[in-house]
Amino acid sequence: MKPTVAEYLRQKETVRGRLQDIDARVMLAIDGLQRAAAVSGDLLEIGVSYGQTAILLGYCVQASERLVVCDTFAETKAFYSENLADDAPHHQGLQRSEFEQNYLRFHPTLPNIIAGRSHEIDRDRLAAHFRLIHLAGSHAAPTRR
Ligand SMILES: C[S@@+](CC[C@H](N)C(=O)[O-])C[C@H]1O[C@@H](n2cnc3c(N)ncnc32)[C@H](O)[C@@H]1O
Repeated sequence: MKPTVAEYLRQKETVRGRLQDIDARVMLAIDGLQRAAAVSGDLLEIGVSYGQTAILLGYCVQASERLVVCDTFAETKAFYSENLADDAPHHQGLQRSEFEQNYLRFHPTLPNIIAGRSHEIDRDRLAAHFRLIHLAGSHAAPTRR
């Protein structure tokens, strides 16, 4: 049976990542406020790493919604070495399969995965689809889009 979000929050350190308890509470609070106001839409995370935050966002997705995630995965190092200064311990050699395995520990199906650089996302196609976006990808100016 799928673990509850409370169970996930107790276990989240079993997934590598940077999600702080306070940030998780803020995201859940925003989701709660949006639900109360009947705001609907998809959720997006740019920069998933091993999935610590994406798994949390997966608990916010309603039946009519989807979670879309974007990451360069193992390609990152080859693309932008300047990113590595602060991110290296977290994603060096990150494989998409590691993200997927972590996600499937808590959810029955994977989110929509865009494997590539965030600035290459088709903005026109995805514009106005999302009610909640978590940006945690590149910090480098040319790619921070
Ligand atoms: C700080 S980590 C994300 C942490 C993650 N949200 C969590 O919950 O632990 C940054 C991630 O951004 C990805 N990344 C770096 N540059 C990117 C880019 N241009 N487009 C998409 N993802 C990128 C890296 O591969 C890495 O997985």
